[in-house]
Amino acid sequence: MKEVNISEVWKKKYPERVVVAASWDEKNNRPNFIPLGWFMQTSFSPPLVAISVGVTRYSHTLLHKEKEFVVFFPNKKMGKEVYYWGTHSGKDVDKLKESAVETEQAKHVKPPLIKNAPINLECKVVDTLRTGDHTIFVGKILAAYIEEEEEVILNFGEYKFGGIKEQEILFTP
Ligand SMILES: Cc1cc2nc3c(=O)[nH]c(=O)nc-3n(C[C@H](O)[C@H](O)[C@H](O)COP(=O)(O)O)c2cc1C
Repeated sequence: MKEVNISEVWKKKYPERVVVAASWDEKNNRPNFIPLGWFMQTSFSPPLVAISVGVTRYSHTLLHKEKEFVVFFPNKKMGKEVYYWGTHSGKDVDKLKESAVETEQAKHVKPPLIKNAPINLECKVVDTLRTGDHTIFVGKILAAYIEEEEEVILNFGEYKFGGIKEQEILFTP
């Protein structure tokens, strides 16, 4: 067995699903989108998911304030958007305006659903846990939607520690 720097081991976990959390920016009256690798289901009953968001992200501020989000799985055509959303901050730009996705009103929360996303989940934050430089937001799923024909994006691991190239988010499951 070879002992390595901790950052080395994470290369082995890819490919992984990428999800996107949409939060609501009341001040600017618009949604914000953050791509996330760190997402999981964490309870069947009640139905809970957990997302881990860096404390420096604008999304972190919005999630704390509004305590609700939509988490969606981007489809294979949304690679450009995932790249853009993951390399810009909603503090500086209107991520919805700069992308080609279409939205529709959610039933229970202010952030919108994303049309043609394989999965959309409306969530209310029911718990938070500060873990080092990230916070885990636990969301209770209030409504769930699927698009049968759409396929998810996988990240093959080239996104790491701030470095990313557009072509490195690959699309083959
Ligand atoms: C594929 C991918 C996975 C990412 N995973 C996470 C994650 O799990 N948690 C996190 O805080 N940031 C993650 N990021 C980084 C954020 O998406 C990025 O910092 C984003 O620009 C933050 O936007 P905001 O300031 O508008 O919230 C990821 C980015 C990409 C492209």
